[in-house]
Amino acid sequence: MTQGPHFLQIPGPSPVPERIQRAIDHQVIDHRGPQFQKLGHEVLEGIKPLFGTTQPVIIYPASGTGAWEAAIVNTLSAGDRVLMAETGQFATLWQKLATRWGVAVDFIPGDWRHGVDAATIAAKLAEDKAHAIKAVMVVHNETSTGCLSDIAAVRKAMGDHPALLMVDTISGLGSAPVHHDAWGADVTVSGSQKGLMLPPGLSFTAVSEKALAATKTATLPRSYWDWQEMVQFNAKGFFPYTPASTLLYGLKEAIAMLNEEGLENVFARHQRLAEACRAAVRGWGLEITCLDPKVYSPILTGVMMPAGHDADNFRKVALEHFNISYGAGLGKLAGKAFRIGHLGDCNELTLMAALCATEMTLKLAGVPHKAGGVAAAMDSFTQDGKKLRLSA
Ligand SMILES: Cc1ncc(COP(=O)(O)O)c(C=O)c1O
Repeated sequence: MTQGPHFLQIPGPSPVPERIQRAIDHQVIDHRGPQFQKLGHEVLEGIKPLFGTTQPVIIYPASGTGAWEAAIVNTLSAGDRVLMAETGQFATLWQKLATRWGVAVDFIPGDWRHGVDAATIAAKLAEDKAHAIKAVMVVHNETSTGCLSDIAAVRKAMGDHPALLMVDTISGLGSAPVHHDAWGADVTVSGSQKGLMLPPGLSFTAVSEKALAATKTATLPRSYWDWQEMVQFNAKGFFPYTPASTLLYGLKEAIAMLNEEGLENVFARHQRLAEACRAAVRGWGLEITCLDPKVYSPILTGVMMPAGHDADNFRKVALEHFNISYGAGLGKLAGKAFRIGHLGDCNELTLMAALCATEMTLKLAGVPHKAGGVAAAMDSFTQDGKKLRLSA
């Protein structure tokens, strides 16, 4: 077994900083008592600025998939039509989930290398004179490809159409700006194990008034996921059932850490790391999965393997030799791409270590590449003899 830390370089779960680990290491408390009520209020209020909202944010003890399902069962009825965009594996999984609930999904095809095409959404909604489409559901940061879609453009494309806008920013929150209110989003879902630097186990859902109102007419069955009950309890700082109190202590610490750094600085740090990572990939002469520079993700970089070379073998060699985990290629990209996460508790040196491991593994695994990716990343941090700041 290799000594020293494991490099968890997947795009979530991301490494949990010690401060958060210590905060979670807390005795369980009475979830109907005043100590919990204070914590409940603190985290339910504290999470709102991360979403750019003053509206309710629901916290489930669930992975992101739970929040996906909750978004559907609270707002839709069987047979409802929705519009989704095939940006990658996560859009595909959300579409499958909706289909299983009897929702009729118009899934705009995509090549898994671009973001959401707002013009196609505009065209589809313009055709829908009867307003049969009840929701537009898009993935903000497509974790399988490394494309960060322009949600404001999607909202603009919707014009006056009354469909709900539902956004998956499960891997975007806490790493890239999220503007639930300014976007005019109705449902924005996220998870704990990415930019919030927490272990998996919590999901978050910002809900607009319009989305809450939709629960009154939506007829899909729901009980555990019912937003109305949750919002009523949350208003008093409580939950309708036993909350994950120790993870909520971690959440309080995560919010404090993000605020201490300043959200703008957090986002700038992610951008700089992402730029350095892309400089390395270009330096190696490899292809970045995302083909549109306007939507490069600050959270992860997908790397395409040269034809005839297996990305899973590359990851295996890297793990065996350097104790590092990269994200696997998912779905259509299985074996064809791997993903380097640069999100959450990371900085120049954690990224440089990962990029060194990548360059060494390219050699060991016999993947054709040019030398100099690591040097290009270092240069991107130190242009003109000055260290570029990671903050805003
Ligand atoms: C964009 C996106 N959506 C949804 C999910 C599913 O979330 P979970 O695995 O927490 O259920 C993920 C997980 O990685 C994701 O990255």
